[in-house]
Amino acid sequence: MDYRMLCVVLLSFLAYTNSEQVKFVDCGSVDGNVVEVDVQPCSQQPCQLHKGQSYTVNVTFSSNVASQTSKAVVHGVIGVVPVPFPIPCDDGCKSGIQCPIAPQKMYSYVNQLPVKSEYPTLKLVVEWELRDDANKDLFCIKFPVQIVN
Ligand SMILES: *[C@@H]1O[C@H](CO)[C@@H](O)[C@H](O)[C@H]1NC(C)=O
Repeated sequence: MDYRMLCVVLLSFLAYTNSEQVKFVDCGSVDGNVVEVDVQPCSQQPCQLHKGQSYTVNVTFSSNVASQTSKAVVHGVIGVVPVPFPIPCDDGCKSGIQCPIAPQKMYSYVNQLPVKSEYPTLKLVVEWELRDDANKDLFCIKFPVQIVN
């Protein structure tokens, strides 16, 4: 098998077994640049989130600034109304990021999105921010999801 063919096979295998890259909208990452957003498991888009399950969100970004801390703020936007979406741990420095954050470095923020059984069945947009020391966004991303039974 030639090398290029092997790469294609390997890449499709990775795409199949690994998490799904989701289409996202940047909602104002002033202190960083988002490279990629993965949600696992998510086999179709918008991601179907089953009640009672937990999903892994992985946001890969580069920082433009130095920061000692990072704090995640998550909202579910239903129509135009943002509702706080509680996550078990909002400390970005305990979510895959090694702090202090240095400028021009790449980080992967990895956290869980628990979908409670009492959530209603609906479509919404998840808005996920990670704020730095200055309370500015290292990233702000939005992606649509559908909560299903
Ligand atoms: C997060 O995504 C990045 C970029 O695809 C990848 O390198 C990293 O291994 C992922 N981390 C986890 C814990 O899945």
